[in-house]
Amino acid sequence: MEISIELCKLYEAALAVVPRAYARYSNFRVGAAVLCGDGTVITGVNVENRSFGLTNCAERSAIFTAISSGFTDFRAIAIATPDASYPVSPCGACRQVLSEFFPASAQVVFGNSLATAVLSSVGELYPYDALHELSHR
Ligand code: THU
Repeated sequence: MEISIELCKLYEAALAVVPRAYARYSNFRVGAAVLCGDGTVITGVNVENRSFGLTNCAERSAIFTAISSGFTDFRAIAIATPDASYPVSPCGACRQVLSEFFPASAQVVFGNSLATAVLSSVGELYPYDALHELSHR
């Protein structure tokens, strides 16, 4: 499916914050941008730590910032990984967090560039999710 202009802009917002990534251990910078129900865009970057397990992915940085800012209604998320040579999809921890706050229909765009970006959805990346199944009952 073709990526809409709205999602292209969301990807550009994710790409724009990549220079803010704190990725001194992996040198793998990631930017994320969340599209809220009212059109607000909230961004985040990966924030690493010398105690590696404390690293926060860009997706979770953006989602936690959005939740902390009072947003509860989410339509899409874009993830920019320009340091990769192929599109990098969200990790398992981020898929779990996405499923907590996003509807299964929410769109997920990820790519090392806009030209190679992949369009998916929360439900596609995290199928058979118990929380979504419960919310549909
Ligand atoms: N990372 C993200 O921020 N999001 C992803 O979707 C993939 C991985 C970060 C975590 C770590 O800081 C670096 O990329 C290398 O894994």
